[in-house]
Amino acid sequence: MRTYLVTGGAGFIGSNYIHYMFRKYGDEIFIINVDVLTYAGNPENLADVENRSNYRFVRANICDKEAIRKVFAEYDIDRVVHFAAESHVDRSIVQPELFVTTNVLGTANMLNCAKEAWELPDGSFKEGKKFLHVSTDEVYGSLPEDGGYFYETTPYAPHSPYSASKAGSDLLVKAYMDTYHFPANITNCSNNYGPYQFPEKLIPLMIHNALEGKKLPVYGDGKNVRDWLYVEDHAKAIDMVCEKGRLFETYNVGGHNEKQNIEIVKTIIDILREELPDSDPRKAALTYDLITYVEDRKGHDRRYAIAPDKIRAEIGWEPETMFREGIRKTIRWYFDNEEWMEHVTSGDYQQYYDKMYGEKKEIG
Ligand code: NAD
Ligand code: TYD
Repeated sequence: MRTYLVTGGAGFIGSNYIHYMFRKYGDEIFIINVDVLTYAGNPENLADVENRSNYRFVRANICDKEAIRKVFAEYDIDRVVHFAAESHVDRSIVQPELFVTTNVLGTANMLNCAKEAWELPDGSFKEGKKFLHVSTDEVYGSLPEDGGYFYETTPYAPHSPYSASKAGSDLLVKAYMDTYHFPANITNCSNNYGPYQFPEKLIPLMIHNALEGKKLPVYGDGKNVRDWLYVEDHAKAIDMVCEKGRLFETYNVGGHNEKQNIEIVKTIIDILREELPDSDPRKAALTYDLITYVEDRKGHDRRYAIAPDKIRAEIGWEPETMFREGIRKTIRWYFDNEEWMEHVTSGDYQQYYDKMYGEKKEIG
């Protein structure tokens, strides 16, 4: 039975990955989820797996040396799948040091603890072990509007404190691979969307606001481009890289699905209108008039676009979910899980929203 140490498994992508893995492997795997439960970590995301005999939750900070060492001492870990991070660009602009602590120092600690547990006296590593570092396409910086893609060979040029801290963490993983032949892979994925995403990110924030009849705050001219991937396709890619990826390699993950932000917001309104019955009082208010252009994000990257050629050619991974189908599934998930949304938007969320959006000037 293969044993996984998943970090950040109570967050958006981590929880989708854990669901995917149990659906795929059932009782053939053992998962230990290490998560400190920040505002972004939500045990509700994993309520349906918490009683499995092949699942353990450990509440710990990835920066805590003793806590992470203890997990490695207690279990014979075969795979580390490292998601835990501070992940929101807007928060990184307000609180950059937190991003350095979690993303850089936390990753350094995870690497050290895995190295300590897996290294043999001759400096080689135990057979079959692997550290999979989950990263982002934002480390490559911003592309011009009129062309170009991010390849694995594209030089790093991060702009936000978030992407700079993720770039720092990637470089540490690369340094461990180069220096110690530490068994690892890095995946750099484009923007994800789907169930369990916290409504600070574009898609769930727009779904939530639209259903509440609130303004839909589009930054700048709304023409920034992101390359969107349904989260389950990302989970599948991570599993395939874990099993088939050549050690020491980086794989870009993305679905050639570039969209301007304004197009995304309009698609959400269209699909919400299609999905809501005419009798629902929220439907009448759901029009493009809710769209409000607001002051731009500082240092806002213009365009991201992944070239997924390597993962397709070497590993055979391809995205399976078309964008409109993925958005529809996501919207239906939020309809079916209104309580989840209520829970995550009560408490501190309103304060966050007022702080981030209250001061943004409307433009245009
Ligand atoms: P998220 O913010 O939803 O979840 C992060 C999780 O990490 C939370 O459960 C949180 O409690 C946990 N965490 C944070 N700090 C921690 C710490 N110090 N110790 C232990 N746990 C801690 O993030 P996400 O969107 O699921 O992203 C997961 C990973 O994927 C991140 O590394 C992110 O950089 C990367 N990524 C995200 C996207 C995206 O579109 N969301 C795209 C590409 C890559
Ligand atoms: P986001 O979901 O924060 O992901 P990232 O910044 O990591 O790509 O934002 C996606 C895009 O949507 C980005 O160009 C910023 C824009 N955006 C808005 O226009 N309004 C919003 O309220 C948010 C959260 C994002």
